[in-house]
Amino acid sequence: MVLRAMERRAKQRVMPVRAAAETEIALRDVTVRYKLAGGGSKTVLHRLNVEIRAGEFVAVLGETGCGKSTLLRMVLGQEFPNEGAVVVDGKPVRRIDARCGYVPQKYALFPDRSVMQNVLYGPENAFCGWMGRARPRFWRFRRELRAEATQMLLRMGLKSGDFSKYPGQLSGGMQQRVAIAQALMMRPPVLLMDEAFSALDPSTRASLQQQLKDAWQETKPTVLFVTHNTSEALLLATRVLVLRPHAEGETESNVLVDMQVPHTNEPLSVRRRTREFEQLHEHVKQLAFRESDGGTELVPTGLVQEMPRRGDAAE
Ligand SMILES: Nc1ncnc2c1ncn2[C@@H]1O[C@H](COP(=O)(O)OP(=O)(O)O)[C@@H](O)[C@H]1O
Ligand SMILES: [Mg+2]
Repeated sequence: MVLRAMERRAKQRVMPVRAAAETEIALRDVTVRYKLAGGGSKTVLHRLNVEIRAGEFVAVLGETGCGKSTLLRMVLGQEFPNEGAVVVDGKPVRRIDARCGYVPQKYALFPDRSVMQNVLYGPENAFCGWMGRARPRFWRFRRELRAEATQMLLRMGLKSGDFSKYPGQLSGGMQQRVAIAQALMMRPPVLLMDEAFSALDPSTRASLQQQLKDAWQETKPTVLFVTHNTSEALLLATRVLVLRPHAEGETESNVLVDMQVPHTNEPLSVRRRTREFEQLHEHVKQLAFRESDGGTELVPTGLVQEMPRRGDAAE
Protein backbone atom coordinates (compact mmCIF):
# COMPACT_ATOMS: atom_id res chain seq x y z
CA MET A 1 0.00 0.00 0.00
CA VAL A 2 2.65 2.44 1.13
CA LEU A 3 4.86 1.45 -1.76
CA ARG A 4 2.05 2.01 -4.23
CA ALA A 5 1.33 5.45 -2.77
CA MET A 6 5.03 6.35 -3.06
CA GLU A 7 5.07 5.13 -6.63
CA ARG A 8 2.01 7.23 -7.41
CA ARG A 9 3.57 10.33 -5.90
CA ALA A 10 6.81 9.75 -7.79
CA LYS A 11 4.82 9.44 -11.03
CA GLN A 12 3.02 12.70 -10.30
CA ARG A 13 6.36 14.47 -9.89
CA VAL A 14 7.71 13.04 -13.10
CA MET A 15 4.60 13.62 -15.20
CA PRO A 16 4.82 17.40 -15.69
CA VAL A 17 8.41 17.11 -16.95
CA ARG A 18 7.44 14.47 -19.50
CA ALA A 19 4.39 16.51 -20.48
CA ALA A 20 6.57 19.57 -21.08
CA ALA A 21 8.78 17.69 -23.51
CA GLU A 22 5.93 16.19 -25.55
CA THR A 23 2.82 18.23 -24.99
CA GLU A 24 3.05 21.98 -25.38
CA ILE A 25 -0.63 22.76 -24.79
CA ALA A 26 -3.10 20.58 -22.95
CA LEU A 27 -6.76 21.32 -22.40
CA ARG A 28 -8.06 18.95 -19.75
CA ASP A 29 -11.83 18.73 -19.48
CA VAL A 30 -12.13 22.46 -20.13
CA THR A 31 -15.59 23.98 -19.74
CA VAL A 32 -16.23 27.70 -20.14
CA ARG A 33 -19.51 29.42 -19.27
CA TYR A 34 -20.46 33.07 -19.56
CA LYS A 35 -23.14 34.73 -17.46
CA LEU A 36 -26.09 35.98 -19.47
CA ALA A 37 -27.31 39.54 -18.93
CA GLY A 38 -30.85 38.33 -18.09
CA GLY A 39 -29.58 35.72 -15.58
CA GLY A 40 -28.42 32.16 -16.12
CA SER A 41 -25.38 31.20 -18.12
CA LYS A 42 -24.33 29.97 -21.53
CA THR A 43 -21.80 27.19 -22.02
CA VAL A 44 -19.37 28.08 -24.81
CA LEU A 45 -16.73 25.36 -24.53
CA HIS A 46 -17.78 22.01 -23.10
CA ARG A 47 -15.44 19.32 -21.77
CA LEU A 48 -12.66 19.98 -24.24
CA ASN A 49 -9.84 17.46 -24.08
CA VAL A 50 -7.10 18.37 -26.52
CA GLU A 51 -3.37 17.66 -26.33
CA ILE A 52 -1.16 19.61 -28.72
CA ARG A 53 2.44 18.53 -29.17
CA ALA A 54 5.30 21.02 -29.50
CA GLY A 55 5.68 22.12 -33.11
CA GLU A 56 2.16 21.21 -34.26
CA PHE A 57 0.35 23.76 -36.44
CA VAL A 58 -3.29 23.49 -35.44
CA ALA A 59 -5.99 25.28 -37.41
CA VAL A 60 -9.22 25.90 -35.50
CA LEU A 61 -12.36 26.11 -37.62
CA GLY A 62 -16.02 26.48 -36.72
CA GLU A 63 -18.95 28.77 -37.20
CA THR A 64 -19.10 32.20 -35.55
CA GLY A 65 -19.84 32.02 -31.84
CA CYS A 66 -18.69 28.43 -31.29
CA GLY A 67 -15.87 29.51 -28.98
CA LYS A 68 -12.71 29.72 -31.11
CA SER A 69 -11.56 33.08 -29.70
CA THR A 70 -12.50 31.94 -26.21
CA LEU A 71 -10.25 28.90 -26.66
CA LEU A 72 -7.31 31.12 -27.63
CA ARG A 73 -7.85 33.46 -24.67
CA MET A 74 -7.76 30.44 -22.33
CA VAL A 75 -4.39 29.32 -23.71
CA LEU A 76 -3.08 32.90 -23.55
CA GLY A 77 -4.15 33.19 -19.91
CA GLN A 78 -6.37 36.20 -20.46
CA GLU A 79 -9.31 34.19 -19.13
CA PHE A 80 -9.68 30.97 -17.18
CA PRO A 81 -12.03 28.01 -17.52
CA ASN A 82 -14.90 27.42 -15.11
CA GLU A 83 -13.91 23.77 -14.98
CA GLY A 84 -10.85 21.82 -16.02
CA ALA A 85 -7.31 23.03 -16.62
CA VAL A 86 -5.26 24.64 -19.36
CA VAL A 87 -1.63 23.57 -19.25
CA VAL A 88 1.14 25.17 -21.32
CA ASP A 89 4.60 23.65 -21.24
CA GLY A 90 3.65 21.44 -18.34
CA LYS A 91 2.42 24.28 -16.11
CA PRO A 92 -1.19 25.32 -15.47
CA VAL A 93 -1.87 28.73 -17.02
CA ARG A 94 -2.52 31.28 -14.26
CA ARG A 95 -1.74 34.58 -15.96
CA ILE A 96 -0.91 35.86 -19.44
CA ASP A 97 1.76 33.44 -20.55
CA ALA A 98 5.04 34.91 -21.80
CA ARG A 99 5.54 31.85 -24.00
CA CYS A 100 2.57 32.87 -26.13
CA GLY A 101 2.67 35.33 -29.01
CA TYR A 102 -0.84 36.56 -29.77
CA VAL A 103 -2.28 38.15 -32.88
CA PRO A 104 -5.90 39.07 -32.12
CA GLN A 105 -8.53 39.86 -34.74
CA LYS A 106 -7.94 43.61 -34.36
CA TYR A 107 -6.46 46.40 -32.21
CA ALA A 108 -3.16 44.62 -31.78
CA LEU A 109 -0.84 47.65 -32.10
CA PHE A 110 0.11 50.54 -29.81
CA PRO A 111 -1.54 53.52 -31.56
CA ASP A 112 1.01 56.03 -30.20
CA ARG A 113 4.10 54.15 -31.42
CA SER A 114 5.44 53.97 -34.95
CA VAL A 115 5.51 50.73 -36.91
CA MET A 116 9.18 50.15 -36.03
CA GLN A 117 8.64 51.04 -32.36
CA ASN A 118 5.72 48.62 -32.23
CA VAL A 119 7.83 45.77 -33.55
CA LEU A 120 10.84 46.56 -31.31
CA TYR A 121 8.82 47.03 -28.13
CA GLY A 122 8.46 43.37 -27.12
CA PRO A 123 12.03 42.16 -27.71
CA GLU A 124 13.53 45.33 -26.11
CA ASN A 125 11.51 44.83 -22.96
CA ALA A 126 12.30 41.15 -22.88
CA PHE A 127 16.02 42.05 -23.09
CA CYS A 128 16.00 44.49 -20.17
CA GLY A 129 14.02 47.12 -18.26
CA TRP A 130 14.57 50.88 -18.56
CA MET A 131 17.64 50.86 -16.32
CA GLY A 132 19.42 48.32 -18.49
CA ARG A 133 19.21 50.67 -21.46
CA ALA A 134 22.14 52.70 -20.15
CA ARG A 135 24.49 49.80 -20.91
CA PRO A 136 26.40 49.75 -24.24
CA ARG A 137 25.37 46.11 -24.67
CA PHE A 138 21.75 47.24 -25.05
CA TRP A 139 22.57 49.59 -27.93
CA ARG A 140 24.47 46.87 -29.77
CA PHE A 141 21.52 44.55 -29.22
CA ARG A 142 19.16 47.28 -30.45
CA ARG A 143 21.13 47.78 -33.69
CA GLU A 144 20.93 44.05 -34.43
CA LEU A 145 17.29 43.98 -33.49
CA ARG A 146 16.51 46.89 -35.82
CA ALA A 147 18.16 45.04 -38.69
CA GLU A 148 16.11 41.95 -37.89
CA ALA A 149 12.90 44.00 -37.56
CA THR A 150 13.59 45.63 -40.93
CA GLN A 151 13.93 42.21 -42.54
CA MET A 152 10.77 40.96 -40.86
CA LEU A 153 8.70 44.01 -41.89
CA LEU A 154 9.93 43.83 -45.49
CA ARG A 155 9.17 40.12 -45.51
CA MET A 156 5.63 40.87 -44.37
CA GLY A 157 5.25 43.24 -47.33
CA LEU A 158 5.82 46.66 -45.74
CA LYS A 159 7.99 49.31 -47.36
CA SER A 160 10.78 51.13 -45.50
CA GLY A 161 8.80 54.38 -45.90
CA ASP A 162 6.08 52.86 -43.67
CA PHE A 163 8.38 52.15 -40.73
CA SER A 164 7.99 55.61 -39.17
CA LYS A 165 4.22 55.76 -39.73
CA TYR A 166 1.71 55.33 -36.92
CA PRO A 167 -0.91 52.54 -37.03
CA GLY A 168 -3.68 55.08 -37.69
CA GLN A 169 -1.96 56.06 -40.94
CA LEU A 170 -2.09 52.47 -42.26
CA SER A 171 -4.92 50.41 -43.72
CA GLY A 172 -6.32 47.54 -41.66
CA GLY A 173 -4.46 45.02 -43.79
CA MET A 174 -1.13 46.82 -43.30
CA GLN A 175 -1.71 47.03 -39.54
CA GLN A 176 -2.33 43.31 -39.50
CA ARG A 177 0.99 42.66 -41.26
CA VAL A 178 2.75 44.74 -38.59
CA ALA A 179 0.94 42.79 -35.86
CA ILE A 180 2.14 39.51 -37.37
CA ALA A 181 5.72 40.85 -37.64
CA GLN A 182 5.46 42.01 -34.02
CA ALA A 183 4.40 38.55 -32.85
CA LEU A 184 7.04 36.70 -34.90
CA MET A 185 9.84 39.01 -33.67
CA MET A 186 9.35 37.60 -30.18
CA ARG A 187 10.05 34.10 -31.54
CA PRO A 188 7.38 32.72 -29.22
CA PRO A 189 7.34 28.95 -28.64
CA VAL A 190 3.53 29.24 -28.90
CA LEU A 191 1.85 31.42 -31.49
CA LEU A 192 -1.86 32.20 -31.18
CA MET A 193 -3.49 33.78 -34.22
CA ASP A 194 -7.16 34.73 -34.26
CA GLU A 195 -8.49 35.21 -37.79
CA ALA A 196 -5.30 37.14 -38.41
CA PHE A 197 -5.68 37.00 -42.20
CA SER A 198 -9.41 37.67 -42.45
CA ALA A 199 -9.10 41.38 -43.18
CA LEU A 200 -6.55 40.94 -45.98
CA ASP A 201 -7.13 41.02 -49.72
CA PRO A 202 -6.65 37.63 -51.45
CA SER A 203 -3.15 38.24 -52.85
CA THR A 204 -1.78 39.67 -49.57
CA ARG A 205 -3.42 36.79 -47.78
CA ALA A 206 -1.78 34.22 -50.05
CA SER A 207 1.64 35.84 -49.61
CA LEU A 208 1.31 36.04 -45.81
CA GLN A 209 0.15 32.43 -45.66
CA GLN A 210 3.40 31.44 -47.36
CA GLN A 211 5.45 33.70 -45.05
CA LEU A 212 3.81 32.20 -42.00
CA LYS A 213 4.35 28.65 -43.23
CA ASP A 214 8.03 29.46 -43.93
CA ALA A 215 8.46 31.08 -40.51
CA TRP A 216 6.85 28.06 -38.87
CA GLN A 217 9.09 25.68 -40.78
CA GLU A 218 12.22 27.61 -39.69
CA THR A 219 11.55 27.74 -35.94
CA LYS A 220 8.65 25.25 -35.46
CA PRO A 221 6.60 27.12 -32.89
CA THR A 222 3.39 25.49 -31.74
CA VAL A 223 0.63 27.35 -33.57
CA LEU A 224 -3.08 27.70 -32.85
CA PHE A 225 -4.53 29.41 -35.89
CA VAL A 226 -8.21 30.36 -35.94
CA THR A 227 -9.69 30.79 -39.40
CA HIS A 228 -13.01 30.65 -41.21
CA ASN A 229 -11.37 29.40 -44.35
CA THR A 230 -11.16 25.62 -44.73
CA SER A 231 -8.71 25.82 -47.61
CA GLU A 232 -6.39 28.11 -45.60
CA ALA A 233 -6.60 25.74 -42.65
CA LEU A 234 -5.63 22.74 -44.77
CA LEU A 235 -2.82 24.56 -46.55
CA LEU A 236 -1.14 25.73 -43.36
CA ALA A 237 -1.92 23.27 -40.64
CA THR A 238 -0.64 19.86 -39.65
CA ARG A 239 -3.86 19.29 -37.73
CA VAL A 240 -7.36 20.67 -37.97
CA LEU A 241 -9.85 21.08 -35.13
CA VAL A 242 -13.42 21.91 -36.04
CA LEU A 243 -15.57 23.14 -33.15
CA ARG A 244 -19.34 23.27 -33.15
CA PRO A 245 -21.58 25.38 -30.94
CA HIS A 246 -22.50 23.70 -27.68
CA ALA A 247 -26.22 23.12 -27.19
CA GLU A 248 -27.47 23.24 -23.59
CA GLY A 249 -27.92 19.77 -22.15
CA GLU A 250 -25.49 18.06 -24.51
CA THR A 251 -23.03 15.83 -22.73
CA GLU A 252 -20.26 15.48 -25.31
CA SER A 253 -17.46 17.91 -26.10
CA ASN A 254 -17.90 20.47 -28.84
CA VAL A 255 -14.96 19.24 -30.87
CA LEU A 256 -16.59 18.11 -34.12
CA VAL A 257 -13.47 17.05 -36.03
CA ASP A 258 -9.88 16.47 -34.87
CA MET A 259 -7.79 15.46 -37.83
CA GLN A 260 -4.16 15.21 -38.91
CA VAL A 261 -3.33 16.94 -42.21
CA PRO A 262 -0.65 15.41 -44.42
CA HIS A 263 2.22 17.89 -44.49
CA THR A 264 4.18 18.69 -47.66
CA ASN A 265 7.00 21.11 -48.44
CA GLU A 266 5.83 22.36 -51.83
CA PRO A 267 4.91 26.09 -52.18
CA LEU A 268 1.31 26.73 -51.15
CA SER A 269 0.41 28.14 -54.57
CA VAL A 270 1.40 24.76 -56.08
CA ARG A 271 -0.10 22.72 -53.27
CA ARG A 272 -3.53 24.34 -53.52
CA ARG A 273 -3.81 23.28 -57.17
CA THR A 274 -2.98 19.60 -56.67
CA ARG A 275 -5.62 16.91 -56.96
CA GLU A 276 -4.58 15.52 -53.60
CA PHE A 277 -5.34 18.85 -51.94
CA GLU A 278 -8.70 19.14 -53.70
CA GLN A 279 -9.63 15.67 -52.41
CA LEU A 280 -8.55 16.58 -48.90
CA HIS A 281 -10.60 19.78 -49.06
CA GLU A 282 -13.68 17.85 -50.20
CA HIS A 283 -13.12 15.27 -47.48
CA VAL A 284 -13.08 17.91 -44.73
CA LYS A 285 -16.06 19.75 -46.13
CA GLN A 286 -17.99 16.48 -46.09
CA LEU A 287 -16.95 15.81 -42.51
CA ALA A 288 -17.75 19.22 -41.15
CA PHE A 289 -20.05 21.06 -43.51
CA ARG A 290 -23.21 20.48 -45.42
CA GLU A 291 -24.28 22.41 -48.48
CA SER A 292 -27.50 24.24 -47.73
CA ASP A 293 -29.52 26.87 -49.56
CA GLY A 294 -27.77 29.60 -47.65
CA GLY A 295 -24.25 28.28 -48.34
CA THR A 296 -22.17 25.96 -46.21
CA GLU A 297 -23.35 25.11 -42.75
CA LEU A 298 -21.81 23.09 -39.94
CA VAL A 299 -23.50 19.79 -39.19
CA PRO A 300 -23.34 18.82 -35.52
CA THR A 301 -22.67 15.14 -36.08
CA GLY A 302 -20.15 14.78 -33.26
CA LEU A 303 -17.76 13.19 -35.74
CA VAL A 304 -14.17 12.81 -34.66
CA GLN A 305 -12.05 11.36 -37.41
CA GLU A 306 -8.43 10.63 -37.94
CA MET A 307 -7.14 11.35 -41.43
CA PRO A 308 -4.95 8.69 -43.08
CA ARG A 309 -1.30 9.74 -43.37
CA ARG A 310 0.11 10.80 -46.72
CA GLY A 311 0.49 7.73 -48.89
CA ASP A 312 -2.18 5.76 -47.03
CA ALA A 313 -5.04 7.49 -48.83
CA ALA A 314 -6.78 5.42 -51.49
CA GLU A 315 -6.58 7.02 -54.92
N1 LIG B 1 -16.44 37.87 -22.19
C1 LIG B 1 -17.61 37.35 -22.61
N2 LIG B 1 -18.73 37.52 -21.89
C2 LIG B 1 -19.90 36.97 -22.30
N3 LIG B 1 -20.05 36.23 -23.41
C3 LIG B 1 -18.97 36.05 -24.15
C4 LIG B 1 -17.68 36.58 -23.81
N4 LIG B 1 -16.78 36.20 -24.75
C5 LIG B 1 -17.46 35.47 -25.64
N5 LIG B 1 -18.75 35.37 -25.30
C6 LIG B 1 -19.79 34.60 -26.02
O1 LIG B 1 -19.26 33.28 -26.20
C7 LIG B 1 -19.58 32.80 -27.46
C8 LIG B 1 -18.32 32.38 -28.19
O2 LIG B 1 -17.57 33.52 -28.49
P1 LIG B 1 -16.21 33.46 -29.30
O3 LIG B 1 -15.23 32.65 -28.56
O4 LIG B 1 -15.84 34.88 -29.58
O5 LIG B 1 -16.64 32.69 -30.63
P2 LIG B 1 -15.91 32.61 -32.05
O6 LIG B 1 -14.55 33.19 -31.91
O7 LIG B 1 -15.92 31.16 -32.40
O8 LIG B 1 -16.77 33.39 -33.00
C9 LIG B 1 -20.39 33.88 -28.16
O9 LIG B 1 -21.75 33.58 -28.01
C10 LIG B 1 -20.03 35.11 -27.42
O10 LIG B 1 -21.07 36.04 -27.46
MG1 LIG C 1 -13.65 34.91 -32.80
